Amino acid sequence: MSKYLVTGGAGYVGGVVAAHLLEAGHEVTVLDNFSTGFGEGVPAGATLIDGRIQDAARYLDPSFDAVLHFAASSQVGESVVNPGKYWDNNVGGTLALLTAMRGAGVRKLVFSSTAATYGEPTEGLLTETSVTAPTNPYGASKLAVDHMIAGECVAHGLAAVSLRYFNVAGAYGEFGERHDPETHLIPLVLQVALGQRESISVFGDDYPTPDGTCVRDYIHVADLAQAHLSALRVAAEGEHLICNLGNGNGFSVREVIETVRKVTGREIPEVVAPRRAGDPAVLVASARTAHERLGWTPTRSDLTGIVTDAWNFARRNHS
Ligand SMILES: NC(=O)c1ccc[n+]([C@@H]2O[C@H](COP(=O)([O-])OP(=O)(O)OC[C@H]3O[C@@H](n4cnc5c(N)ncnc54)[C@H](O)[C@@H]3O)[C@@H](O)[C@H]2O)c1
Repeated sequence: MSKYLVTGGAGYVGGVVAAHLLEAGHEVTVLDNFSTGFGEGVPAGATLIDGRIQDAARYLDPSFDAVLHFAASSQVGESVVNPGKYWDNNVGGTLALLTAMRGAGVRKLVFSSTAATYGEPTEGLLTETSVTAPTNPYGASKLAVDHMIAGECVAHGLAAVSLRYFNVAGAYGEFGERHDPETHLIPLVLQVALGQRESISVFGDDYPTPDGTCVRDYIHVADLAQAHLSALRVAAEGEHLICNLGNGNGFSVREVIETVRKVTGREIPEVVAPRRAGDPAVLVASARTAHERLGWTPTRSDLTGIVTDAWNFARRNHS
């Protein structure tokens, strides 16, 4: 059994990973300031600290074996209008966390990085050596953190894995996606199915893709959680390992909407809107490194299963 600090464990992904760690018999402490998280997002059995990563030095001690770092501001649109918040919380907050880890002698880290570090791809499947040219401050702040972590590994022997998630989706039992405002496609389409939203906007239907709409790589949150457990096992002193987490195949916006229609049996009116700036036609991961280094293969990659899990969660939490 190991003892882990999970920052952002009251949020969507952190809550699901914390639940997996507890199920595997580990001890979990969640550190969250509830800026976007929810009390119900913290799994039973975890110790909860209502606090900020900026104050991590107060909470970390040598009894922790590793930190899993999910806490961040992560709304792309907000980052464009309020970039300072992203440098402050994501970069400043992580710098404080890394310093606190060094001070406490906690020398292992798994970090939630993102496909947004790549920006607009110039090639098909994105690999970890693809060009990183983020198109918004959110992606830039996450890339800056990846660089910070790399330096910490070289200079101070940190063992670190950055996992670059593509589009995380689905739910794990009582833990699911609940952002406010919601910006992710699957929960937005489900809001239409629940009558909480009149229609779904399709931002551009003239992209060079089979049906003209953008193609994205959707990864089930439970598959993602398994990769974190593997990352904790393989992290090696002085190494910063970066792994993309995706399925390696994409689904178009229209395919997602059609799947929601089939799963829910509800009507989903759609409205075609202009393209959004900085929205690439296709964003799909090569997950080869995760396969080779983490021994990780996603097992829930079919869209119907992902949407069904998300729908069951959304229906249960619909008030
Ligand atoms: N959801 C996705 O599709 C996706 C894709 C790529 C990367 N990511 C990254 O994964 C991580 C988790 O994403 P999520 O969708 O679960 O987001 P989320 O907003 O649901 O969770 C983030 C959690 O961090 C907490 N938090 C934020 N700032 C904090 C601070 N200073 N101190 C303490 N707690 C703080 C929030 O209260 C929240 O509970 C983020 O780092 C995000 O950038 C998510």
